[in-house]
Amino acid sequence: MTAPAELNRPHVYLPAEGEPTGPPLLLLHGTGGDEHDLLPLRGHLSSAAAVLSVRGTVLENGMPRFFRRLREGVFDEDDLRRRTDELADFVLLASGLYGIEPGSLVAVGFSNGANIASAMLFQRPNVLAGAVLIAAMVPYADPPAADLTGKPVIISNGDRDFMITADMTKRLADQLLNRGAEVTAMPHAGGHEIDATLLPQIRTLIEGVHRSGPTR
Ligand code: MLT
Repeated sequence: MTAPAELNRPHVYLPAEGEPTGPPLLLLHGTGGDEHDLLPLRGHLSSAAAVLSVRGTVLENGMPRFFRRLREGVFDEDDLRRRTDELADFVLLASGLYGIEPGSLVAVGFSNGANIASAMLFQRPNVLAGAVLIAAMVPYADPPAADLTGKPVIISNGDRDFMITADMTKRLADQLLNRGAEVTAMPHAGGHEIDATLLPQIRTLIEGVHRSGPTR
């Protein structure tokens, strides 16, 4: 499908086919990835659902990211705020043009993509129905007071992730819980990676979002 001219940011859109098993997905890649990386997750998490997969527009030594960092694990929060608004605006525009129901997307983000997904939940909560945060850190030291009541958020971090401590994972979960999100921890024994054995459980959980519709 040719992208509408207004959508001047690299992305892939896959329309829904037949009867999707789950919600439409917003796929957000990790540092050095692009909009093609996470497409195989559609078949595992939400078969036949519409997919919007977007590329980060910041380059770090030639590697695409969604926002700047000062060094590994230390984020430029001003840049993150700006890029989060840009991404949210793009997602709303693309949703309108492609016919995705407003507020129905579940973000699936890996690493840097997980971090902008959680930033979007805190900053622009109406854009997403929920999120799957894989290898996720704490995007804002003090996030905005968003109302995330009823929004499912899965955090799937590795026990051996050299970049993310158990304390960081707990802090992120607490920030989300304090704003009303329904947080499910799906830890695994690996490192900074997607644990494929957890995909069926993630699928089951996000299927509930699809059945009950957008939360608000
Ligand atoms: C990454 O390498 O992308 C980091 O783990 C997360 C980030 O910088 O957002």
